Amino acid sequence: MASDSSSIAEGMQLYKDYQCGECHGADAKSSKTANVPKLAGMNAHDLSAKTMKFLASRTHESVMKECGETPNNVQVKKISEFIAGLPR
Ligand code: HEC
Repeated sequence: MASDSSSIAEGMQLYKDYQCGECHGADAKSSKTANVPKLAGMNAHDLSAKTMKFLASRTHESVMKECGETPNNVQVKKISEFIAGLPR
């Protein structure tokens, strides 16, 4: 998985565009709601696998519907690389 700085910058933009930070916090570790897990510094592979699973599952569609449109595979990977690079 390529994790050059340009894809990380894209991931940061996508994280904003899909409003992940609305629930998970701008830095992916300061969520305002207790049941929203901290994501910063997690392994990029785990992050994208879990995000894809959530997006695919009907139950999680409702949680993430505030993203508006849901990100595609490539976008999820970029978002995950960005989050993985954040300090815990
Ligand atoms: C509307 C609020 C909301 C938004 C927006 C949201 N999430 Fe979440 N996310 C949650 C909640 C709540 C959970 C915990 C759900 C659960 O455990 O069933 C979660 C769980 C996760 C997890 C699993 C963490 C773990 O340790 O298991 C990942 C990864 C994740 N979200 C990534 C994202 C990404 C990437 C985006 C943007 C595309 C996003 N989320 C947008 C609320 C949100």
